[in-house]
Amino acid sequence: MQLTQSSVGRKIIMAVTGIVLVAFVCVHLLGNSSLFFGADAINAYAQKLHSLGPFVWVFRLVMLAAFAIHIVFGIQLTLENRAATPEANVQVKRLRTGFGAETMIISGLVLLAFVVYHLLHFTVRVTNPEIYVPLGSSGMVDVYVMMVKGFQSVLPVIIYLVGMAFLFLHVSHGFQSLFQTLGLSNDKSLPVMGTTSKLVGFVLLVGYISIPLLIVAGLFKI
Ligand code: HEM
Repeated sequence: MQLTQSSVGRKIIMAVTGIVLVAFVCVHLLGNSSLFFGADAINAYAQKLHSLGPFVWVFRLVMLAAFAIHIVFGIQLTLENRAATPEANVQVKRLRTGFGAETMIISGLVLLAFVVYHLLHFTVRVTNPEIYVPLGSSGMVDVYVMMVKGFQSVLPVIIYLVGMAFLFLHVSHGFQSLFQTLGLSNDKSLPVMGTTSKLVGFVLLVGYISIPLLIVAGLFKI
């Protein structure tokens, strides 16, 4: 299929915003991992973040813009692709690009739903009033208690596991795809990029699901 100049431009912007989003999920996983060092460590990390004041809001706005652009362009490009793909070629295209590539729009939209739920659960803090307790007189919520109690009921754990499975699916194709879009891979390096991409997705999957699973296993006490 012939790509128009504007769709090439949008693909490049999707690749750049994709890098910003992957960087965020890697840094967020590292931050969340302070839970493994105990209640004081995760609460100190949360307190440090909140003490950054206006910088937190600048960061949030940049992330929100990257996320919104990535979603809008992703939907537009998918609709354009579908309109331009003759029915007879659908099977050929699937064979060439694979399951991860064909389901990018679905995994992306599931991730959007996950992020909305996640923000309501841990940032806006409205879904489970019983898990939000104050951290002494600091004026902050006890993030350790929130995380441990937050994963003591079945529904949130299932939602996070499903969300992380889709994160794996999305990143393990998207990471490789962004290098292709930016012209940073060729026929020779493509298989290496494919493997690296799956590895990044797998590390994120294992890292993120280990938190609810270890909490369910009773490793963290309140
Ligand atoms: C097991 C998986 C995860 C856990 C346990 C977790 C934990 C948390 C916690 C505790 C907060 C609130 C921090 C605070 O206010 O002090 C938070 C915020 C957030 N998380 Fe996650 N997270 C997970 C996965 C993800 C994923 C996969 C994404 C993105 C796809 C994500 C995106 C966000 C965003 C955007 C925020 C808001 C940051 C802000 O306040 O500016 N999280 N997460």
